[in-house]
Amino acid sequence: MKVAIIGSGIVGQTLGKKLVELGQEVILGTRDASKLDEVKGWAGSLNNWLATVGDRATVATFTDAANRGEIVINATHDIASLAALQTAGVENLKGKILIDVANGLDFFQGMPPKSLAADTTSLGEKIQAAFPDTKVVKTLNTMNIDG
Ligand SMILES: NC(=O)c1ccc[n+]([C@@H]2O[C@H](COP(=O)([O-])OP(=O)(O)OC[C@H]3O[C@@H](n4cnc5c(N)ncnc54)[C@H](OP(=O)(O)O)[C@@H]3O)[C@@H](O)[C@H]2O)c1
Repeated sequence: MKVAIIGSGIVGQTLGKKLVELGQEVILGTRDASKLDEVKGWAGSLNNWLATVGDRATVATFTDAANRGEIVINATHDIASLAALQTAGVENLKGKILIDVANGLDFFQGMPPKSLAADTTSLGEKIQAAFPDTKVVKTLNTMNIDG
């Protein structure tokens, strides 16, 4: 199966590596697919990731990844998720399962992070409302990426 991952940080890279090990084809999405040497936060560069995972993985823009993926994972920065998925494209996500592993947390005001969820609306609900023809599945967001 072709799995698109929208998000190139430690979570996207870790999930992508495991999915390749399990025999899936992975298209890892990033905003600028030409910046393969840029270090991605706690993760390494996408060139390092590609060298680790082998031929069953490629790096593409958010749009290209969502277009090519049969199933899509959202692993973007919490606050940027809606914008990143809009860039991925409503039409590219239409009818597809979107596994949303992002957390609605704001780390920019110090620790502990502030929850961005309103009393009645979570990030997953906001994504489902913005992409009504996509099947949003909220899961794995409380799993530590090291565990
Ligand atoms: N750490 C964990 O153990 C864990 C476990 C489960 C879930 N999570 C959640 O998984 C998600 C991903 O975490 P992460 O640490 O791997 O990555 P991250 O640093 O939270 O996000 C990286 C991704 O967000 C994109 N991005 C950043 N700013 C953006 C903007 N303004 N517009 C569009 N896209 C933007 C980056 O684009 P580029 O590719 O262009 O750099 C990159 O693809 C988060 O929501 C996190 O809360 C974390």
